[in-house]
Amino acid sequence: MRRHVRIAITGAAGSIANSLLFKIAAGEMMGKDQPVILQLIDLPDAMEALRGIAMELEDCAYPLLHTITLHDNVENGFKNTHYALLIGARPRGPGMERRDLLEVNAEIFSRQGKALNDFANRDVKVLVVGNPANTNALIASRNAPDLSPSQFTALTRLDHNRTRGILANHTGASPKDIQRVVIWGNHSTTQYPDLHHAHILGEPAMRQIDTGWYRDQFIPTIQTRGGEIIKARGASSAASAAQAITDHMRDWVLGTEPGDIVSMSIVSDGSYGITKGIIYSFPVRCDYGRYQIVQGLTINDFSQQRMTDTEQELLDEKAMVEHLLPEETAASHEGLSICLRSGVTLYADGTGPDSGSKYLTTNRVM
Ligand code: LMR
Repeated sequence: MRRHVRIAITGAAGSIANSLLFKIAAGEMMGKDQPVILQLIDLPDAMEALRGIAMELEDCAYPLLHTITLHDNVENGFKNTHYALLIGARPRGPGMERRDLLEVNAEIFSRQGKALNDFANRDVKVLVVGNPANTNALIASRNAPDLSPSQFTALTRLDHNRTRGILANHTGASPKDIQRVVIWGNHSTTQYPDLHHAHILGEPAMRQIDTGWYRDQFIPTIQTRGGEIIKARGASSAASAAQAITDHMRDWVLGTEPGDIVSMSIVSDGSYGITKGIIYSFPVRCDYGRYQIVQGLTINDFSQQRMTDTEQELLDEKAMVEHLLPEETAASHEGLSICLRSGVTLYADGTGPDSGSKYLTTNRVM
């Protein structure tokens, strides 16, 4: 049996976590042989609700669930954690754009970045879910001077999964037959779901769909799906977000399917001409607990324009929170020049989860 890993989750009493925690405890995220300790974090007035969730988790008698701890502050909750899922944020209500949330959530994420820096395992892998996720991730990362920028990611797997699911429904294929879709940019209405590299049943997707439908209907559907769900449910997506978080972390830790591409928002190293230092969604592959940007995809003029538009939105968001981005971390973020990224889970004695695992035990690349 492997040694346990610690997973800290903010917003743990919320609706995304209510789906997610049971998936993690069942082994869907970290693997069916990986015991976990859940470090659940929420606001002080949510502690009673959190206690109820912990009781339910206990009542499921999951063999992989080693321990649950409850915390009303991130400083305690992040202690020694190997993984941090930052879900808690002020949610978007009907009619609100993600940008409206910037100021409200910026303070939360700078505190969380500092707490990760001071208390988490040195090789913690961080996924930011709370919106505006990309810029919140940037704020957290820039406030963690002792961690590598490559340890911070934001969720665009939800958009990636939506792209596969909706395309499957349109074409009559199964989602498993759809591969190599790419989400570029921001988790917002400017994101660019790119099908130019996608395959349906092994054949180029663009030859199997109508270009007019793709441009005029499909792209806006993906871009506005989150808002549509809020309108319909009166609450933002929960179960599909939990599935996307599970997929993002599982692929990061255990590797992507051979031949496939997934979308992760990560600190730009300048690939595809995207400004260095912003958190932008790229096509990646993961192996050995690391991710690598897929290079060399051909970008046509249509794609280039959309990639630039969503990049510009991220630059505008960054400008709005500049006062929360400490100068001391500017160079580490803007100077990334490698595409093989770090993120190996290490214990204090420098080993991985077990001696026979496929984790590399090198130190961080950064
Ligand atoms: C989503 O995409 O469903 C979530 O990010 C919710 C939102 O605010 O759009």
